[in-house]
Amino acid sequence: MTLTNLGLPMPGRPPAPGMPADGPLLDSYGRIATDLRVSLTDRCNLRCTYCMPAEGLQWLPDSQLLSADELARLLRIAVTRLGITSVRFTGGEPLVSPHLAQTIAAAAALRPRPEIAVTTNGLGLARHAAKLKQAGLNRVNVSLDTVNAEHFAQITRRDRLDDVLAGLAAAAEAGLGPIKVNAVLDPRTGLDDVVPLLSFCLEHGYQLRIIEQMPLDAGHEWTRAKTIEADTVLSTLRRHFDLQPDPGPRGSAPAQLWRVDGGEATVGVIASVSESFCGACDRTRLTADGQIRSCLFSTTETDLRALLRGGADDDALEAAWRTAMWAKPAGHGINDPSFIQPARPMSAIGG
Ligand code: 5AD
Ligand code: SF4
Repeated sequence: MTLTNLGLPMPGRPPAPGMPADGPLLDSYGRIATDLRVSLTDRCNLRCTYCMPAEGLQWLPDSQLLSADELARLLRIAVTRLGITSVRFTGGEPLVSPHLAQTIAAAAALRPRPEIAVTTNGLGLARHAAKLKQAGLNRVNVSLDTVNAEHFAQITRRDRLDDVLAGLAAAAEAGLGPIKVNAVLDPRTGLDDVVPLLSFCLEHGYQLRIIEQMPLDAGHEWTRAKTIEADTVLSTLRRHFDLQPDPGPRGSAPAQLWRVDGGEATVGVIASVSESFCGACDRTRLTADGQIRSCLFSTTETDLRALLRGGADDDALEAAWRTAMWAKPAGHGINDPSFIQPARPMSAIGG
């Protein structure tokens, strides 16, 4: 494979027409990426049906995973050269990565200091929350689709609801708020799950955000017909709660926020499939094996690991990252007949 078909800039090759060599991290549609998602591992201790198969998913080999030093270097380039202002660590499950605390501390030492968040399934968070806060973590999003233990075990294929609830409580105790709860509703039980889940979040002061299921499952079994769409979620919630549009500005946030029962608390609905927000996307993604993905649904990647390990200097890494983002597609195209699901499942991309 040549550098050209990996999407890497060739030494001496002029940059793509119009692509700036410095300043903000731009794509050719004029969007600026300021939010970096870093997947630290593709491994996970749950097996959610919409993400992983029941068994038999091959993990990335350790030799292909970025080391803590490689991660720290790419984070420095992202923040000091590419204008990244917020970094979110994801997985798989980021708490199973041996580098999480160290990598948070490396990000927190950068100037200007980025906002640092983690998306976790909450297992083990009870043990790690205080230490991660101390390392520089600002906020957590915890994935929780139901507060019904039986449904939880069906969705995640593990009987661990109590651990997640303990993790949430520990995160609140450690000051990792505002805490967001991410829920992907199960096609069979989701409409029964969502009302008690919102009540639970309101009671504890967590902000619930319901995400439409996207075609990122390892089994490639997703169909739009099986997905519970935002409108259905809203009409179900409205039978139990008064929802009014939140007056605050939405910006690049994917969630549409609703004020609940006239109070300050909000619930967010992320209509990733039925109403795409790609036009306002401000994300760039780094996988655990050192690939830049300009979009969750990219079918091409840019191999920063090969460049790093081949002795590339910071200028070359920066240029490769910029070139990858310049080619970011306009949108995910999930609803186009020509849509192709990416080969990597969500667990190997990072949410
Ligand atoms: N569609 C939508 N969200 C997903 N997540 C995982 N797989 C999918 C999918 N197919 C969510 C998880 C978690 C975050 C990392 O991404 O619920 O909150
Ligand atoms: Fe693990 Fe998250 Fe995938 Fe569930 S969605 S299997 S918690 S990586």
